[in-house]
Amino acid sequence: MAQSTFLSASLKPQLSFKGDEQWLGCFGPKKNPCHLRLLSNSNLAVRAAYTTDSRSIEIPRQWYNLISDLPVKPPPPLHPKTFEPIKPEDLSHLFPDELIKQEATNERFIDIPEEVIDVYRLWRPTPLIRAKRLEKLLDTPARIYYKYEGGSPAGSHKPNTAVPQVWYNAQQGVKNVVTETGAGQWGSSLAFACSLFDLNCEVWQVRASYDQKPYRKLMMQTWGAKVHPSPSNITEAGRKILEKDPSSPGSLGIAISEAVEVAAKNADTKYCLGSVLNHVLLHQTVIGEECIKQMEAIGETPDVIIGCTGGGSNFGGLAFPFIREKLSGKINPLIRAVEPAACPSLTKGVYAYDYGDTAGMTPLMKMHTLGHDFIPDPIHAGGLRYHGMAPLISHVYELGFMETLAIGQTECFAGAIQFARSEGLIPAPEPTHAIAATIREALHCRETGESKVILMAMCGHGHFDLPAYDKYLQGGLVDLSFSEERIKASLANIPQTGLKQTV
Ligand SMILES: Cc1ncc(COP(=O)(O)O)c(C=O)c1O
Repeated sequence: MAQSTFLSASLKPQLSFKGDEQWLGCFGPKKNPCHLRLLSNSNLAVRAAYTTDSRSIEIPRQWYNLISDLPVKPPPPLHPKTFEPIKPEDLSHLFPDELIKQEATNERFIDIPEEVIDVYRLWRPTPLIRAKRLEKLLDTPARIYYKYEGGSPAGSHKPNTAVPQVWYNAQQGVKNVVTETGAGQWGSSLAFACSLFDLNCEVWQVRASYDQKPYRKLMMQTWGAKVHPSPSNITEAGRKILEKDPSSPGSLGIAISEAVEVAAKNADTKYCLGSVLNHVLLHQTVIGEECIKQMEAIGETPDVIIGCTGGGSNFGGLAFPFIREKLSGKINPLIRAVEPAACPSLTKGVYAYDYGDTAGMTPLMKMHTLGHDFIPDPIHAGGLRYHGMAPLISHVYELGFMETLAIGQTECFAGAIQFARSEGLIPAPEPTHAIAATIREALHCRETGESKVILMAMCGHGHFDLPAYDKYLQGGLVDLSFSEERIKASLANIPQTGLKQTV
């Protein structure tokens, strides 16, 4: 059983040099492991090489496409006007060719471009950490591990896809990209990636988060992006919403409409999405691929894998490679997605073709949805306020390969405080959902005496989300009620495609 907080005591930290790369492991005495960073030439080369029995963990060279291994392929996206399956050319005003290809590919593995790997080196491989102190606090026999993506420049998993998306755009000669952002994590990741490859970046940030999180806006501006609160007066979609509700808190669906509208109207501008689409989840599988190698290296096999879901990318990124192993019969973990009780697309939505945005400009995707014009209450986990779920995750759920759970934000923040006070890291509000579910599982293990291995996706830090912690610590954070009536109303507006809509 692993002993070290930073992976396993059985690992033998080593320093080796490979060309101009400096490989750095986990040094120091067992009781006081540390994670060091070295400068290599002009690059910040951050490498954690965990060496055990001559195997070292390297950044994966390929992303994994779960679709290739599924017994039933997911339903295709449909054209928003004709309701016919979408053709690649229907997407070319929004995305560069390579990403359109990745969106529809059946190939099992996709090579990660060398230039992207070179940027990944700034924060990858990311650590897999044993939450020994949380285990102790909970007095549980469970062994809890978390894969921490908060060490990226933007502080979350989002740069894993922002960097390749911007790189493929740059390869095609695109100069301007636009996007939406909820909590600001995705917008800042895209702004960061654009600054590396010299692209202009414009971001529509959901009004509730724009007001709650001024420092995220400043990060985006520091990396050179232009940021607008959404809904805005700049677009038709935004103006329509503001006419109806001048103080609208916004939603990811509205912000997507605004960014897509700008991309559709400007031939020199493409659109980037931070979650939901197949190519986004594909890029995030670098997390799971890396984690499989790390778990193998320490001789652990997960019994339960837990992640929070907004559009599904951090969860899918960690879980999909493990689902491959599950489908091949090598392992059999429970795979559990956790969503906010105030925006429960998987647990309370219907599985139907719906738009990805509020104004109905995107292709129709078969997914679990609360209705494209559902505006979730302004919970602090802004990145989880999306009406739908990634079609691929929805499909995997329908196939029975995973389970779901919805948790209110007060329980999530209570868990985050326990986590921060035992493990040290202050999580972003989104992964507090994974933490709360992990704590539930660990307490269940305490009752049953089972020593399950729980693997959790810790997708970002909350350094710019401290107003939410302030509210919780002052006793002002409440569970926002979930309205069946509001969902019924928005579900009534799901487009009628003439196809069997729900199952
Ligand atoms: C830190 C963090 N975690 C999770 C999410 C949810 O997105 P996804 O479900 O695509 O991982 C977001 C979205 O902005 C986020 O910022």
